[in-house]
Amino acid sequence: MPPISRRSMLVQGTAATLAMPAIAQTASLKIGLMLPFSGTYAALGESIASAFDMRVKELGGKMAGRPVELIRVDDESDPAKAPSNVNRLLGREQVDALVGTVHSGVVMALVQASREQQVPLIIPNAGNAAATRELCAPSVFRSSFTNWQPAYGMGKVLAAKGVKKAAWVTWAYAAGKESGDGFADGLKSGGAELTKVLTVPFPETNFQPLLAQLPGLGVDAVGAFFAGGGAIQFVKDYAAAGLRDKLPLYGSGFLTEGVLKPQGAAAEGVQTALHYGDGIDNPKNIAFRAAFKSFSNRDADVYAVQGYDAAQMLDIGLSATKGNAGAIKDFAAAILAATIDSPRGPFTLSPSHNPVQTIWLREAKNGENRVIGVAAEKLADPGTGCTMT
Ligand code: BEZ
Repeated sequence: MPPISRRSMLVQGTAATLAMPAIAQTASLKIGLMLPFSGTYAALGESIASAFDMRVKELGGKMAGRPVELIRVDDESDPAKAPSNVNRLLGREQVDALVGTVHSGVVMALVQASREQQVPLIIPNAGNAAATRELCAPSVFRSSFTNWQPAYGMGKVLAAKGVKKAAWVTWAYAAGKESGDGFADGLKSGGAELTKVLTVPFPETNFQPLLAQLPGLGVDAVGAFFAGGGAIQFVKDYAAAGLRDKLPLYGSGFLTEGVLKPQGAAAEGVQTALHYGDGIDNPKNIAFRAAFKSFSNRDADVYAVQGYDAAQMLDIGLSATKGNAGAIKDFAAAILAATIDSPRGPFTLSPSHNPVQTIWLREAKNGENRVIGVAAEKLADPGTGCTMT
């Protein structure tokens, strides 16, 4: 008999006098969505949650034959509040599975809980490498990326363009640091060099002191990691400082993703690298974008794609275990064996449970992040230090 999840035991125990098969089919599957719904990453959290919800509705509101109940918690992108938010979902709410989050610091509390309590976790954004490197676990999966992946693609493209020296500008937390490492590795792969990293604390947006230093660095290009509200401000400030003509700006694709409207002319021509882009011409993507617009009245972006794919992955795992979220071994085997039919294009997971995916080169034009080439084909994160036990 497969292991029974904490919540399945509870449901079955409290209703022991009722017929078991009927309970198994009608008891809801509780899924905790821990995401930022306020602060600089609020729009990212909303996109993920809406697309997750849309996939659940496409499945008739059920996974593995059981009605799905979504419990939303606003994590505010605040690592200090993460442990109590996770405890609320696993304790008071008794969720069967966790989905979250956006911020690389906050996700660590989810990873720890998933490892300790054997609850499936699908990470629909946060790129913290540890989750699928040294802290990888059979219960932890990503529908997104590691911070290293898109930035590696960007660095590789710049080296091929003839850039010799570049700087990296970012927030001082795991996502900024790890994407800087990816950028450095990508540059190095083509004989170029990252010579300077400049940071501001997260989620600060006073970029002026940092921008003032850039012209004196002796670099040919500047790469950046910012996202959400901070990305809007940074791209506008960079243009307003008159830097665009002197030092071309590049980035992990989050720099211009989902924020082109408020960035306006300041973003025009900025090239970035990401595992999604506008104009990906496959039937799945075309259908997804139209459906998401009519479901949420929002334009699809990478965050929506990751939320949708998180729901697809959870459904695959739960269907294979007949809704028993505690059967981690079978849950993991099903997801690892699957090809996820994503709007970004089909992808599989690496042995450390991270998407192996093409990183596209995009250019911001007329309000779109148009795909203009391939930055890195079928790129896997190195998964260094991952041993599944
Ligand atoms: C992160 O913290 O991992 C992250 C946040 C926003 C966009 C991309 C990555």
